[in-house]
Amino acid sequence: MFAKEVYVRRRETLLQKMREAGQSGLILFIGNAEAPAQYRDNCYKWRQDSTWLYYFGLDEPNMAAVLSIDSGNQGIFATDVDIDDIIWMGPQESVASKAESVGIYKTGPYDNLAPWLKEHAKGRTVHVIPPSRYYNTMKLQKLLPGVKPSEALVKAIVSQRLIKEDIEIAAIDDACALGYEMHSVGRDSIKPGILEQEIVGKMEGVTLSKGWGVSFPTILTQHGETLHNHLHDKIIEPGKLMVIDAGAESNLHYASDFTRTYPTSGKFTAKQRDVYQIVYECNELAFSLTKPGTTYRDVHLAVARKMLDGLQALDLVHGDLDEMVACGIAGLFQPHGLGHNMGLDVHDMEDLGENLVGYDPDQTRAKQLGLGSLRMARRLVPGHVITDEPGIYFIPALIEKFKKEGLGKDFVNYAKLEGYYDFGGIRLEDDVLVTPTGARRLGPNRLPIAPNDVEAAMAK
Ligand code: GLY
Ligand code: MN
Repeated sequence: MFAKEVYVRRRETLLQKMREAGQSGLILFIGNAEAPAQYRDNCYKWRQDSTWLYYFGLDEPNMAAVLSIDSGNQGIFATDVDIDDIIWMGPQESVASKAESVGIYKTGPYDNLAPWLKEHAKGRTVHVIPPSRYYNTMKLQKLLPGVKPSEALVKAIVSQRLIKEDIEIAAIDDACALGYEMHSVGRDSIKPGILEQEIVGKMEGVTLSKGWGVSFPTILTQHGETLHNHLHDKIIEPGKLMVIDAGAESNLHYASDFTRTYPTSGKFTAKQRDVYQIVYECNELAFSLTKPGTTYRDVHLAVARKMLDGLQALDLVHGDLDEMVACGIAGLFQPHGLGHNMGLDVHDMEDLGENLVGYDPDQTRAKQLGLGSLRMARRLVPGHVITDEPGIYFIPALIEKFKKEGLGKDFVNYAKLEGYYDFGGIRLEDDVLVTPTGARRLGPNRLPIAPNDVEAAMAK
């Protein structure tokens, strides 16, 4: 946890933002509860709600809090343990003492929340966020029938959490250091003949031994053309490409998220290297364009243009680059966006609504394949933490669909593309902080990424 003052200041800032937006009434936050996996006492690994962590830090189940926008009063509802809990969990700090550690001095048992709201919420607006868990959706509806998420509250929270504080940047740097270690172990373990899952286990062991665990289920596959392939059941074959997209979550619950693509034999074939080089240059281009004042939407489009230029040199597309970008043909090769926000969640705050998080009020989300999946389009400002993750994928079913529907027929060399149906995919991802003068890649070290550096690292 951070120091008490951090949470006090964050809540004060939130209340001030709500007042400035002309809002009044109460804000109700509900922390997560344990989520049974098979039966009540065998639960999924405990993870607190990220918005709760941001404002209250307390990393345990069954807590709620109410803030008054009007008076500034704040209270936590949570129940002290009884002897049964002590038998199973050991002695616990009192709720009052935990609340004090984050600067809250009024507490009551969790069961008092419903009657308290009945009495105090009458005739007042109660602002809530969209719950990240279904369980809390049901709980909220029981407490406040018909309540809808407050856009004003979501906007206030997003505006605050999007700009990372120095202590958060240090925490993300730490998560990136752990992610770097995971990936180094992963890269060094690639060897034809072994099972993909073996590498996943080693990588996840690294983050579990030093941090909370993974920031999302590890993607490690020789079928990188499937963007989020969570199967790890293949034996590593020589001559293939292996996409490793994985990140660590630190004990402070900040995320990292890196992707590298490796030749399973340790050396790229000429064909693999040609495509790899394009993706590498796209990653570098995105970083070089990342600076305050630029929109990440424009960075995505610049990357699309560069990618098409590279694919044109390989005779896979042909035509005017601007026309090809405008018609969205880049989506055939990169059907995802260039990046997303990152912080307490690997896709930061997407539970609050992707568009409210990733788009400025004057931006609308495109419908095109690829650009339409861009999760972070905003005008960049210092303190944004985003990913830079271009990729090129040859997805036979998608290519066949485009071909059948005549999409991009003036631009795409479908005959030549057939020679890439067993190629797989390549993605290269770094985590980036927007600084006052440009950008900095997060983490103490950058994973080898230039093709020669990748081969050199694999040869060690
Ligand atoms: N690294 C997983 C994702 O960005 O969705
Ligand atoms: Mn990512």
